[in-house]
Amino acid sequence: MTIPVMRPWLGEEEAAAAAAAIASGWVAQGPRVAEFERAFAAVIGVDHAVAVSSCTAALHLALVAAGIGPGDDVVVPSLSFIATANAARYVGARPVFADIDAATLNLTPDTVAAVLTERTKAVILVDQAGVPADLDSMRKLCDPSGIVVVEDAACAAGSEYRDRAVGAGADLAAFSFHPRKLLTTGEGGMLVTPDGQVAARLRRLREHGMDISAASRHASAQPVIEHYVETGYNYRMTDIQAAVGLVQLGKLPRMIDRRRMLAHRYHKLLEDIPGIKTIQDPEYGRTNYQSFWVLLPADFPVGRDDLLRLLADQGVSARRGIMAAHTEPVYADNRSPQLPITERITSSSLILPLFHQMAETDQDLVVSIIRAAAKPPGR
Ligand SMILES: Cc1ncc(COP(=O)(O)O)c(C=O)c1O
Repeated sequence: MTIPVMRPWLGEEEAAAAAAAIASGWVAQGPRVAEFERAFAAVIGVDHAVAVSSCTAALHLALVAAGIGPGDDVVVPSLSFIATANAARYVGARPVFADIDAATLNLTPDTVAAVLTERTKAVILVDQAGVPADLDSMRKLCDPSGIVVVEDAACAAGSEYRDRAVGAGADLAAFSFHPRKLLTTGEGGMLVTPDGQVAARLRRLREHGMDISAASRHASAQPVIEHYVETGYNYRMTDIQAAVGLVQLGKLPRMIDRRRMLAHRYHKLLEDIPGIKTIQDPEYGRTNYQSFWVLLPADFPVGRDDLLRLLADQGVSARRGIMAAHTEPVYADNRSPQLPITERITSSSLILPLFHQMAETDQDLVVSIIRAAAKPPGR
């Protein structure tokens, strides 16, 4: 038996929706993408949503749309998937790593203020593992200096920040639909923004810089000559993906309810193991529990990697905690400042299995292995 760290909740409905898209004959970006965008915007409570091929593409386009380029610094958390920092490099800017708050694993105004330079033009604020970051306090720091805050909400579809969906208060927020996230389209991403002009630019940028979409040209009875008004990209989502996304979006509230129930159970089961810290909701919001991470105390009898091995030996596929980009070879030249909280958390945390169909007996097994490891030998 293997208990995966995550399993997407996909079924017959998604299969039928994908089949219908194929049967329609329109499989590239078309009417289903437009419908998915409208539905996603409504769920988040924003005016505009622009579908793209991944969250990585979304972050890239967000920085292009924000006018970030060579010579600019972009503050990012090191404790994030590598794509967050890479997005800065895509536009020729320099990612500058900042430390995080140990309770939320997110950037704070203090950790960002510590690394601001005259060249800082943007901050990528990650809602790590689905835990909402404090966007308002970050904007209070950044807005007076004209520093753009891009929200990397890759993990946070359905999380809440001050009684609104995460992403609703951002100028630009980027979501991921990779299968490690709750709502999946295989690969895929979405940008949301309150600004219609920004949304129009994002739509153009994702489609080769064309001034009219391929879908609109196709729908026209008359010949339409398109023009390419800036250097764009092919970051389009397909209608097959969007068809799956529409079904998944309808299931999102049930996904979140189930994850909250299972997470609550993890909290209860783990609470009496000495020193173990678990993910918690911040006072200003609620997580969707995209990942359930635990932090081992320094005196835990078994090291993090050994604990991962013990879990794997019994068929449990857990993961190391979130990576720290500044320790990866690709950022060896970055001359990052010391990031003590990031370094402690990346080496002492792990992500436990959590998925919609997870059985309570699976959870009991996971916790029993951690509990056994927590007992010093001979006791
Ligand atoms: C915080 C964060 N940003 C960006 C990404 C990249 O998302 P995608 O795989 O959709 O490109 C991820 C993916 O894990 C992520 O966790």
